[in-house]
Amino acid sequence: MQEKIKELLSKKEQAKMGGGEDKIKSQHDKGKLTAYERIELLVDEGTFDEVDIFVKHRSNDFGLDQVSYPGDGVATGFAKINGRPVALYSQDFTVFGGSLSETHAEKIVKVMKMAMKAGIPVIGLNDSGGARIQEGVNSLGGYADIFLLNTLASGVVPQISVVLGPCAGGAVYSPAITDFIFMVKNTSYMFVTGPNVVKTVTHEDVSFEELGGADTHASKSGVAHFICDNEVQTLLSVRKLLTFLPLNFMDKPLSKNFDMSLLINEHRLEQIIPDTPNKPYDMKEIINLLVDDKDFLEVHAEYAENIIVGFGRIGGMSVGIVANQPNVLAGVLDINASVKGARFVRFCDAFNIPLLVLVDVPGFLPGTEQEWNGIIRHGAKLLYAFAEATVPKVTVITRKAYGGAYDVMNSKHIRGDFNFAWPSAEIAVMGPKGAVEIIFKKEISTSENPEVELENKLSEYIVKFANPYIAAERGFLDDIILPSETKRRVIQALDLLKTKVDKNPRKKHGNIPL
Ligand code: HXC
Repeated sequence: MQEKIKELLSKKEQAKMGGGEDKIKSQHDKGKLTAYERIELLVDEGTFDEVDIFVKHRSNDFGLDQVSYPGDGVATGFAKINGRPVALYSQDFTVFGGSLSETHAEKIVKVMKMAMKAGIPVIGLNDSGGARIQEGVNSLGGYADIFLLNTLASGVVPQISVVLGPCAGGAVYSPAITDFIFMVKNTSYMFVTGPNVVKTVTHEDVSFEELGGADTHASKSGVAHFICDNEVQTLLSVRKLLTFLPLNFMDKPLSKNFDMSLLINEHRLEQIIPDTPNKPYDMKEIINLLVDDKDFLEVHAEYAENIIVGFGRIGGMSVGIVANQPNVLAGVLDINASVKGARFVRFCDAFNIPLLVLVDVPGFLPGTEQEWNGIIRHGAKLLYAFAEATVPKVTVITRKAYGGAYDVMNSKHIRGDFNFAWPSAEIAVMGPKGAVEIIFKKEISTSENPEVELENKLSEYIVKFANPYIAAERGFLDDIILPSETKRRVIQALDLLKTKVDKNPRKKHGNIPL
């Protein structure tokens, strides 16, 4: 028996060396870790149980019958992160460049199927040259099998993709279907076609980094949700994200203990909104004063910065926060902000994470660029996402809630559960100047002193509409609250809503305006 145990351990040890010492060195020289080093950093110590370590490819073409490695370029299995179970796979670039063969794909599919049965998140650590070229259509089929599983698992268990190397061709579509994509600066990249093909087709000269690096996808395309400076930071960020999420769609996120008796009114909240309505301020300061321990995990921090989305805890409860950012484009809703917000709202709704919505929005962004690129259908995504969401939904209007954007930003009319406003709120069809110039056009133009007349009408309009009291009179707001008591009111609302039950009509699925 001892001999057999020795043999087993030696085989496993050998398998973990992947493509061998030279390849591991080359991986380290590129500033990258190996598949197993990454797993070690990601999961709780000693919890990784690997499966399929002995699986090898079945291909005989192009000399592959002469070369094979146990594990076939991907480590798969189950582990614990923060004491809770996850399924994971980690591609090994030292074996055939981490390329995806038929059996490599089968291993990934196997853990994904188990994750769906067990109701646990799936984390994919991607570092691969794409489809294993020698296997032709078998590897393409393998990708398709993964895409199908990604789609079926969507909304069942959280899926997280961590891109730690190349991710090219159709291979990008697995991460794209998952809920969150992490990338690392300077060592990971994603594109449908690389710089050489781009040069041939469009004659553009573009580097790997510029075309599909972490910065590009964090700020330009919005493909990456999180980017970090190095792999260690990236893997620790994945652990952090998981603290806010449940294991699956029937589970609830873990709450932390919170002592309400220690909660004090935060008077700084009464000094943030400027007296001049068009002056910007930083909504993130408000968010940081509302979340426990000022601990806010922002998603898409560098993309469509006119809307802020991310996770925090309020009163110990995990909450998804969606907030307009008056500091960027006055917090206006444009195409990118609408799509970013909508995707985040749908994720929270799918996984029972309550929503807190902080509103200061002057409306949708006007102009040909926005109209021709479809602000109507993209803006509708945000409206649809909020309207269909059945998780607890709490809104606080801090200043402007104008026009269609008032309706969209989780208003009472689309099933906001608790809708509050600060006394500084202005709820109107449009901003005072635009409104007055339309409805009093004749009076102003025929007046002996148009400027004075405009000022008079503006004052009249502001007194009548630019406040929260009319909405409160109609019950569209549940209360106008002191900014300093916001956290307590939000906690009480979320606490009451813990047992909320709301349903949408029975259907196959809705048809969100994609
Ligand atoms: C088989 C591959 C491979 C692949 C890399 N290797 N990609 N083997 N299939 N797709 C092997 C290399 O032959 C090499 O083997 C080892 O992995 C390391 O590769 P290098 O080129 O030495 O590494 P590096 O210089 O870091 O370059 C990495 C790379 C490059 C940029 C990823 O290898 C590359 O361009 N690969 C091809 C990428 C590609 O076009 N893939 C197909 C995409 S289409 P040795 O033995 O020499 O160490 C696709 C379709 C999916 O994926 C469709 C889904 C619907």
